[in-house]
Amino acid sequence: MIVIPGPTSLGLGWRIAFELGVEPQPVEHKVFPDGESYIKLTKPVQGESVAIVQTTSPNPDTRLMQLLFMAQTANDFGARRILAVIPYLAYARQDKRFLEMEALSLDVIIRLLEAAGVSDLLVVNIHNEASVRAIEERHNVKIHNLSAVPLLAEYLKKHGFDKAYSLSPDKGAIYIVEAASKVLGGSFNFFEKTRDRKTGEIKMEVKNLDIAGLRAVVFDDMISSGGTMAKAVEALKVQGADRVAAACTHVLYMPGAEEKIRIAGADPILSTDTIETPFSKVTVAGLIARKLKELERGS
Ligand code: R5P
Repeated sequence: MIVIPGPTSLGLGWRIAFELGVEPQPVEHKVFPDGESYIKLTKPVQGESVAIVQTTSPNPDTRLMQLLFMAQTANDFGARRILAVIPYLAYARQDKRFLEMEALSLDVIIRLLEAAGVSDLLVVNIHNEASVRAIEERHNVKIHNLSAVPLLAEYLKKHGFDKAYSLSPDKGAIYIVEAASKVLGGSFNFFEKTRDRKTGEIKMEVKNLDIAGLRAVVFDDMISSGGTMAKAVEALKVQGADRVAAACTHVLYMPGAEEKIRIAGADPILSTDTIETPFSKVTVAGLIARKLKELERGS
């Protein structure tokens, strides 16, 4: 298998290649002054299975274009199979038409990947598994959704959060805290969150939890503006939690998000390297490499 670390996932791409025992083959790339991207593969791919590792934040549109260029070029030059490893897949939250005449963005992205020759898409903790399956049915791209939650929980268990309480800020993400609590050994619960589809304003229905003096972790799939995480952390602190960690798979690192979450009382803030930020304490390289090996064996 050839592993191509794309321009946004050089670190993760190298770690995946290391786990697979192969030499990574980064591309030549540049961004022209007008914002267009240039991509050139550096190794022949004829007859090979090619894993392209490219996360899609920051600058999702540019990152997606670069990914499509890499995939299409591998296809043009005879790759046998193209696997797109997009640990954080931008536009995954727009997986339905919430308002009439909205773009079904995720569907468009999968369609483009398919057209570029991608047969398999590996993602980590995609926003809503059920919606993704509905979109997958319309295309010829197999979507493999991996979970980094046990890895985050393992890290926290070793760093002072053994038996901690796990909380999801949103009922829809309850599967995350179910999985986390199996590793941490504490109880779990959820708040209910609603977002105004027009203004983006978040409302959180907070429950009273028996949390006074306990350690707790708020788990979510991602932190973007930080509003959701900050509200949940604050509610636990107000209810007397001793220490609250904020953990998620993807940190989009939007301006002001960290400050908001710290002011709410979170310590630490933790994420994986699906997007490389100062909070990336847990790597998903092993998780992805294992899946790639499994797919390669099955092909
Ligand atoms: C949405 O439902 C997601 O699971 C996250 O809770 C959300 O995207 C976080 O966004 P923000 O940090 O802007 O509140």
